[in-house]
Amino acid sequence: MPKSPLPPKVLFELKRQLNHELSAAHGYLAMSIWCATQNLKGFARFFAKQAGEEREHAGKMIDHLVDRGVPAKLETLPAPRQDFPALLDVALHAQAMEQANTQGINAVFTAAFAAKDYPAQVLMHWFINEQVEEEAWAAELVDRVKGATCAGSLSDLDRHIEKLLAGDGEKED
Ligand code: FEO
Repeated sequence: MPKSPLPPKVLFELKRQLNHELSAAHGYLAMSIWCATQNLKGFARFFAKQAGEEREHAGKMIDHLVDRGVPAKLETLPAPRQDFPALLDVALHAQAMEQANTQGINAVFTAAFAAKDYPAQVLMHWFINEQVEEEAWAAELVDRVKGATCAGSLSDLDRHIEKLLAGDGEKED
């Protein structure tokens, strides 16, 4: 059944990272719930969408493992952070999560590169590019929330995000 055997270190890193992506999905869902309870519907929707994207990211890795004859093992996910003093803390947490995710992606690529595992390297090219985008929106989010210094401007920003998600300005996967 295996079509392209996976070096053990690459297998370890891919399994670790796919569970990390699922954990990120859990984390974004918690942020979405927090935003919804604060009546920040635009942000709630944004983070719910982000949670879906993280599940898709895990799915890409799962598909890769299955295509190479390896069942992906799902692990117990830790409870995500759910309490935030303010929206800025949510944005900073999202940014920290994306920075950690970039390190995880890089670790998979490093293992694939060292093992000359070309299929996994090509898979990780997509993720490396994706992380550039993910870190960019996270940094923009932090900047914009920092710039919204009163309740009114935060509501405006929330409405702006809601409109973006409803229209053509929606962030692509
Ligand atoms: Fe799977 Fe937010 O990167």
